Amino acid sequence: MNKVCVLGSINMDLVVKVNEIPRIGETILSKSFEKIAGGKGANQAIAARRCGAEVSMIAKIGKDENGKILKSKLEEDKISTECVFEDEKEATGMAFIMVNESGNNSIVVVSGSNMAINEEEIDTSIQKIKEADIVIAQFETAEEMTLKVFKKAKELGKVTILNPAPAKKINDELLKVTDIIVPNETEAEVLTGVTVNNLDEANEAGKVFLEKGVKFVVITLGSKGAAVIGKDFCEIVPAYKVNAIDTTAAGDSFIGGVSSKLDFKNINKENLIDTVSFGNKVSSIAVQRKGAQPSIPYLKEVKEVYGDY
Ligand code: ATP
Ligand code: RIB
Repeated sequence: MNKVCVLGSINMDLVVKVNEIPRIGETILSKSFEKIAGGKGANQAIAARRCGAEVSMIAKIGKDENGKILKSKLEEDKISTECVFEDEKEATGMAFIMVNESGNNSIVVVSGSNMAINEEEIDTSIQKIKEADIVIAQFETAEEMTLKVFKKAKELGKVTILNPAPAKKINDELLKVTDIIVPNETEAEVLTGVTVNNLDEANEAGKVFLEKGVKFVVITLGSKGAAVIGKDFCEIVPAYKVNAIDTTAAGDSFIGGVSSKLDFKNINKENLIDTVSFGNKVSSIAVQRKGAQPSIPYLKEVKEVYGDY
């Protein structure tokens, strides 16, 4: 059983279903509104846990009702929340999500307490990094804290996975302590300057990361699957053909699934491709369900659909 530590966000998602995402200046009507547990960090932690990993989170909520609800969601899934801190001033993170008829979304995140996690709290969380095999982070918490956690993780010989989402330019120092980077096409373009539309372009973008010290690159390509790039290979692992109704947390369920199965002691082309194929299975189920956390499947469900893995 892989042990995974996730530094990341916990958000309350406020989700509205719309026919089309409105244009600037346009007002539209929607028939549904729901509050659903989310946040990239929490979603990835839940996906890893539901796929069989032992999981802890390093995160921060506000002193409010949303924070309480979201922390208890993690606990229901038996994720360690000892290092989920509470901020005195900032409210728990929120995400405003519009999902259109084809299941695609637009998201605005109000980070709140997620960005308030500080050095002292990271120092208090070192034990969780020590206990883990794999440490994951995204960009919904402060970059300096991710750098601190990844540096510590590498000192301790752990595998680090960076999901650079939401997209932004980053300091190369972070890439030097990243073993596997998992951007989607947009994030890959922002970080490398290469537009990724096909295998050659995925390889070109991947090489930019490899030159900066990352060991493996996995670029997720939505319904096309994911490109896996290493020093001497680049392959597309196709997605499963399903009827997507809501792609929120597609990337998160993919990353959580990957971390639960990754052969972290010996990552190579063959086992990474196999692991990415498992990630595609997990996320193919998530995109057929509404919302973030409620859409993430358990290993049992993945096996029911795709057989033993
Ligand atoms: P999000 O931000 O919506 O969570 P993302 O942009 O980070 O997602 P994507 O590249 O859209 O990530 O999707 C991640 C993975 O989910 C893909 O690699 C694929 O395995 C799966 N996936 C996404 N969309 C579909 C789809 N329409 N059909 C099947 N699988 C899908
Ligand atoms: O990746 C999906 C997540 O992004 C949502 O749950 C939302 O909270 C934002 O963080």
